[in-house]
Amino acid sequence: MDNRPIGVFDSGLGGLTSVRELLARMPGEDIIYFGDTGRVPYGGRSREIITRYARQDVAFLRTFDLKTVVIACGTVSSTAIDVLKTEQDIPMFGVVEPTARRAVRLTRNGKIGLIATQATISTGAYERVIRALAPQAEIYAAACPLFVPLVENGRTRPGDVVIETVARDYLTPLKEAGVDVLVLGCTHYPLIREVIGAFMGPEVQLVDSGAEAAHEVGRWLSEHDSLASADHVGRCRWYVSDAQGFRELASRFLGRPVTEPVERVDIEQY
Ligand code: DGL
Repeated sequence: MDNRPIGVFDSGLGGLTSVRELLARMPGEDIIYFGDTGRVPYGGRSREIITRYARQDVAFLRTFDLKTVVIACGTVSSTAIDVLKTEQDIPMFGVVEPTARRAVRLTRNGKIGLIATQATISTGAYERVIRALAPQAEIYAAACPLFVPLVENGRTRPGDVVIETVARDYLTPLKEAGVDVLVLGCTHYPLIREVIGAFMGPEVQLVDSGAEAAHEVGRWLSEHDSLASADHVGRCRWYVSDAQGFRELASRFLGRPVTEPVERVDIEQY
């Protein structure tokens, strides 16, 4: 048993889709969440900047006595996880490996679609893991740079002409390629799952990267006898680099009202 909190971070709010899944599976866990809302999005930035930001995010989280860190951000997971794992003496989980594994398990026709930020697509991280597991797989990848800003601005609902137009533009080549699995390689995208699912059609299975990372952490904690004790009441603590509008939008990502205090962090200090 280990009652210490799980640290989770993202460039903004997307990582809350992972927290939602962690809490659904393991409601007794304490969560410390950091969202770098003052510097989001990361997805159009260089590897150097993303790595610097990620190091600061982890340094802040490590001011708490954590049992593990979840990189609930596709961009950081694909760009900086190796560096972070080398530098940190704590188990760290990213989204890429568990998500790629799930996609390979789900596909029937071997055609896997991948949507993510520009930074994630350019690393080729998903392709590497998928190809190692399924060398014959055909991977169709599309960078979707407008999705994160639209989601952070609440443009997520079916019927919203802006998100639907952008989604059609990004997703048409993947639909035409006949993918039967689509990896939502950015943790913001589950918020527009309905829009994406409606466009791709019911025969295409969507894989939620934040949820896959949460499942992986749950399995690991259980295998290492590190879950919180059964009588422990889980608590969430929220930290952001800009608290403006956080509570309302975060409640949508989390699927429940954020009632706990939200604290602002001067992340450049780390
Ligand atoms: N949630 C982040 C991801 O999974 C968003 C990236 C960004 O800030 O552009 O990639």
